[in-house]
Amino acid sequence: MPKSFYVTTPIFYVNDAPHIGHAYTEVAADVITRWHRQRGEGAFLLTGTDEHGEKVLRTAIGNNSDPKSWTDRLVNDSWLPLLETIDIANQDFIRTTEERHKVAVQKFLQQLYDAGYIYQGSFQGNYCVGCEEYKNESDLIDGSGEFAGQRVCAIHSKPVEQLNETNYFFKLSEFQKPLLDLYEKNPTFVQPESARNEVVSFVRSGLSDLSISRSKERFDWGIDIPWDTSHITYVWFDALLNYITAIGFGADQQKLENLWPADVQVVGKDILRFHAVIWPAMLMAAGLEPPKQVFGHGWLLVGGEKMSKSKLTGIAPNEITDVFGSDAFRYYFMKAIGFGSDGSFSWEDLSARYTAELANGFGNLASRTIAMVTRYFDGEIPAPSQPSDADNQVQSVALAAAKDADAAMQRVAIHEAIAKIWTLVDELNNYITVQEPWVLAKSDETRERLATVLYTAAEGLRILAVLLASVMPQATEKLWQALVGNAAELADQKITELSWGGLESGTKVGELEALFPRVEEK
Ligand code: ME8
Ligand code: MG
Repeated sequence: MPKSFYVTTPIFYVNDAPHIGHAYTEVAADVITRWHRQRGEGAFLLTGTDEHGEKVLRTAIGNNSDPKSWTDRLVNDSWLPLLETIDIANQDFIRTTEERHKVAVQKFLQQLYDAGYIYQGSFQGNYCVGCEEYKNESDLIDGSGEFAGQRVCAIHSKPVEQLNETNYFFKLSEFQKPLLDLYEKNPTFVQPESARNEVVSFVRSGLSDLSISRSKERFDWGIDIPWDTSHITYVWFDALLNYITAIGFGADQQKLENLWPADVQVVGKDILRFHAVIWPAMLMAAGLEPPKQVFGHGWLLVGGEKMSKSKLTGIAPNEITDVFGSDAFRYYFMKAIGFGSDGSFSWEDLSARYTAELANGFGNLASRTIAMVTRYFDGEIPAPSQPSDADNQVQSVALAAAKDADAAMQRVAIHEAIAKIWTLVDELNNYITVQEPWVLAKSDETRERLATVLYTAAEGLRILAVLLASVMPQATEKLWQALVGNAAELADQKITELSWGGLESGTKVGELEALFPRVEEK
């Protein structure tokens, strides 16, 4: 059995409900996975929640709850529903509080301990609970407002805490050379390029061993260290392992081999080092392959700063989907922000793109083509005759769009892939304007030409449905139903096998409701 294409998202802290930053990561990972599934690669998407550690514990207590009830409630009321809101087709959802995860984390720890990669030591440092990470002096900035005069975490703008602990350490420092070799041998292991450069220079500057346990004297919301139950596992060490505990590490070797190594691990750039440095080192220590790629995407910004739960600058995803729908949400964030760069969300930009690109560009193309087939050919896809230069041009734009979009998706350049696909939307709109089928319809002499023009437009739309299915699963399914009906499944159309002429003449078209209705009408 060929290996399935395996994509992951970070598992999110359940200290609060998700905002559009989390939805952004989910959508990107889902689009990548769906694209590979549409290439026939049996793709698998994993997402989930990170539930242990001090940050979640403190939040639960601060809300007069206990961590178990708190996380259960947030997962069920907020994090699982998010997946419906933005139409994520994940194969699994892992919670780090699940038994399958805990058991496998302990197996992994024991294996590293037995192999001599873990030792007991003591440590003193500045801890940011928001990041759940020890900070170097260079990671801190001067505080402002209520924290003026103090050094604060550059990401959370809150003071760090002095910790002095005896605990267990992972020999991360031994992996400097193997990591640098990995970055060298696989130049696209960390993407985009800016992220890769940052990681390489960080590792070149030297690595310290990593504290991977916490004494229960401080708090005990975590997974017991198997050989010393007075300690629990450091939340990041626990969390990173979700990527293999969910797919059978220590339990189902066959499943693990079918999925691991992951093909793309999508993360925000805030947590790049954990994924591009600590995580591959952990895997190497256990004799497992590192993932093929870690992609660190940019941030959604609010007033120039990262949108965040802790700063209360989050926008709930359903504020957007309630107005524009999930397809538009997915399209907008994937198209408007270069994947890998930061971007700002604006209602004006979203609304303008919705009208220009989705409603007038794509939606209107679909509805008028189907309407003309209905009107001029009794709803049957007509048979084309000899193609003219203009028809040939549409065909070549369509096939080039498919090829170029696929190439862009291989580089995880999602915005570029969509831009390539959009060349076909633009070409078809232009083609219809120039060919004027409504004029051709006026005379019997031009009936053959009318048939060819409408076949060409409809076939172009069929190809668009396949190419856009990963980004806009709902609109493309409606379009597919109207054009092809049940004669074939959209999900079975392979991107890599797209060729011109797949639409059967004589097929009865169905009705097509507006794919992107005017927002006021909703
Ligand atoms: O870090 N723009 O969880 P977390 C874009 N539990 N993406 C954003 C974003 C923004 N403004 N804000 C959040 C953790 N994200 C750990 C991860 S993985 C083993 C453990 C997204 O809840 C982005 O993917 O703080 C970022 O990396 C992630 O949420 C952080 O989520
Ligand atoms: Mg965070």
